[in-house]
Amino acid sequence: MQKSIQPAKGPLTGAISLPGDKSISHRYAMISAIADGPTRIQRFPAGGDNQSTLRCMEQLGIQVERLENEVVIHGKGLDGLRASSTDLDCGNSGSTMRMLSGILAAQPFVSTLFGDESLSSRPMDRIMKPLGQMGASISAHNERFPPLRIEGRKLNAIRYKPPMASAQVKSCVLLAGLFCEGETIVEEAIRTRDHTEIVLREFGADITTIKDEVILQGRPNLVGGKTLIVPGDISSAAFFLVAALLIPGSNLSIYGVGLNPTRSALLDFLASIGAQCKILDIGQSGGEVVGDIQIKHAPIKGGVLEGAMTAALIDEIPVLSVLGAMSEEGLTVKDAKELRVKETDRIATVAENLGRMGVKVDVEPAGFHVPGKQKFKAAQLDSFHDHRIAMAFAIASLAADGPCLIDRADAASVSFPEFYSTLEKISAA
Ligand code: S3P
Repeated sequence: MQKSIQPAKGPLTGAISLPGDKSISHRYAMISAIADGPTRIQRFPAGGDNQSTLRCMEQLGIQVERLENEVVIHGKGLDGLRASSTDLDCGNSGSTMRMLSGILAAQPFVSTLFGDESLSSRPMDRIMKPLGQMGASISAHNERFPPLRIEGRKLNAIRYKPPMASAQVKSCVLLAGLFCEGETIVEEAIRTRDHTEIVLREFGADITTIKDEVILQGRPNLVGGKTLIVPGDISSAAFFLVAALLIPGSNLSIYGVGLNPTRSALLDFLASIGAQCKILDIGQSGGEVVGDIQIKHAPIKGGVLEGAMTAALIDEIPVLSVLGAMSEEGLTVKDAKELRVKETDRIATVAENLGRMGVKVDVEPAGFHVPGKQKFKAAQLDSFHDHRIAMAFAIASLAADGPCLIDRADAASVSFPEFYSTLEKISAA
């Protein structure tokens, strides 16, 4: 689908709510399936990635009821999954493939997982290595790419220190550790999002974080029977926060956003470069912090992202690059090698689209620099089949000097099918 985006005619205003958090929803779906009894999940996203996870769980013998405002997952306990008669399609979702592999490596049956063209080029050796140390048998295309053939077997608990900051790798090891006797420990040099730890604790597992170690006791009794409400996705909120900062006079409220401290560094960073962002009505849901965000347009200074901050904002960097171009001093991103292996090589796809809009960008192997005080020219852009690239450049288009076209704009639907209608809702008529 090609989408035409008009420049904003005036301030962006109003109140919106967002789809449920994609990261949390994957974990809710997988962990509910191996808990005892039914779990009701409200605000489960319609996005393609989370639906891929649900379908995989169904293929593994789990009953999933799709009701109007919730899904009910009829968990069968730690030993309740069954072999799928067909290969498991993870679609575009790296989280589905990497985390589910942890569960499947410990099952008494063989599974094959595959994905779309983008996922088929993403590295899986990062999970194959620790799972191999646990005793798993996994084969992959060229020893590191999907499809993955997993011959499930009994695994051993390990201590593992991932060489990259990755919540998917940490979660994969922890999910495999559920099926092992004894303690599985993941040591993180840079702390990553901790949704898996929170969800497992909610379901009754014994899991603690001490300094940089996450320690899980194996073979827990995961207790279902709960109702969970997925908080709004802060990574989806990022597009609207940046939109409000780009368009003068804007004033937006975003309700019910997940504000887990391992994800909300975005708000700290925006505040540090000049954003006026208020958090209202803070509460808790399923162990996660949730609140409303109010943002008003303000001049943005620009800044540097590096180290742990880059890791914490990795999904938001495409849209922050857009903000950087219009800031006073620009945006420098360092230590972002991981961007090269997301749904696209996001350093390349960000630079390509910025370039098409006449925006200067200096590309480095592990980052880039976008000088500030630049203007966006109307252009024909491309999502390159990457949801966050589609949405980031729809936001850039709001600030362009004429209508922009985005090729393959429907890529947004893997995390945010309602993105374009939400954008229309807040755009001045
Ligand atoms: C995710 C972790 C991050 C993130 C991805 C979702 C998760 O990936 O980029 O969108 O749900 O755990 P990595 O673990 O590869 O850093």
